[in-house]
Amino acid sequence: MKKLILLAVVISSFLVVFMGCRKEEAIEKRQPEATRSQPRWIIGMSQCNLGEPWRVQMNLDIKNEAAKHPEIKVIFKDAQNDSLRQRAQIEEFINMGVDLLIVSPKEAAPLTPPIAAAYDRGIPVIVLDRRILGDKYTCFIGADNKKIGRAVGEWVVKRLGGKGKVVELKGLMTSTPGQDRHSGFREGIKGSGIEVIFEADMKWLEPEARREMESALARFPQIDLVYAHNDPGAHGAYLAAKAAGREKEIIFVGIDGLPHEGQVYVRQGILEASFEYPTGGKEAIQVALDILNGRSVPKEIKLPSRVFTRENIEQGGEWLEEGKEEREK
Ligand code: FRU
Repeated sequence: MKKLILLAVVISSFLVVFMGCRKEEAIEKRQPEATRSQPRWIIGMSQCNLGEPWRVQMNLDIKNEAAKHPEIKVIFKDAQNDSLRQRAQIEEFINMGVDLLIVSPKEAAPLTPPIAAAYDRGIPVIVLDRRILGDKYTCFIGADNKKIGRAVGEWVVKRLGGKGKVVELKGLMTSTPGQDRHSGFREGIKGSGIEVIFEADMKWLEPEARREMESALARFPQIDLVYAHNDPGAHGAYLAAKAAGREKEIIFVGIDGLPHEGQVYVRQGILEASFEYPTGGKEAIQVALDILNGRSVPKEIKLPSRVFTRENIEQGGEWLEEGKEEREK
């Protein structure tokens, strides 16, 4: 019996050693491939919020472009529309030792210190879409919100024949696109008979825009047009007007122009115009690769914008004319 047990022990230990060798062999065989597919650089992407389709699209644009480059790996964090959480997530990226940061900040002031801290530590930072204060970042990428706001203003003046009553539903006014889309619009309508009868900060959020529009409808028997700083806001305003049976007497205009959001609303006749606001996700990865490969990049990259209306949407919209206002002076 003892002999039998001994034999079993010898056989099983032989099997363990033999299989162990096979396993090591397999790892060794896989090793060169695994090393080859190992990314050389880690990029941290801090997204302020994924509540709107536009931000989901931005992350997708980043992911799709990054997928073409095995030498990089992108780690995404979503701050869920909370500046304090976004600060903490940027600090986590710094402590992880990422090679580069992409940040689309919720608000300018609270996100400036952690971005500056990363930059001071030598981590290149690409700021996307919303700006921060000062110049402690490597490159800013985004469309010109002031110019878009001004183009909306000029479009509204033309569409209303120079006069009318307008509701302005503003994006978060502690974020730079909200500030610029507002001041640009006011420049665009300056000197005309357009009167802004109601304005409110709907913080980029559709339900908030709907609530604000309900107040506007209750207070004003005549509203000719709603300018919302983004398409979710314009859609929220439309839903409020529809519930009040007044959607047919009001023109709705928004910004973002996503193919599956704003452009659909234009095709359906819900919005009369949507101004494109490109996400810059693809460009952020291209610039990141330039930086990581030691190529110099500009401090600022401005992305172009178009307007989509029912008349031009099948032709791909109409580009906002570069330098139009300068030429007219
Ligand atoms: C999404 C969003 C967009 C808008 C952009 C401005 O969070 O509100 O709709 O164009 O942010 O930063």
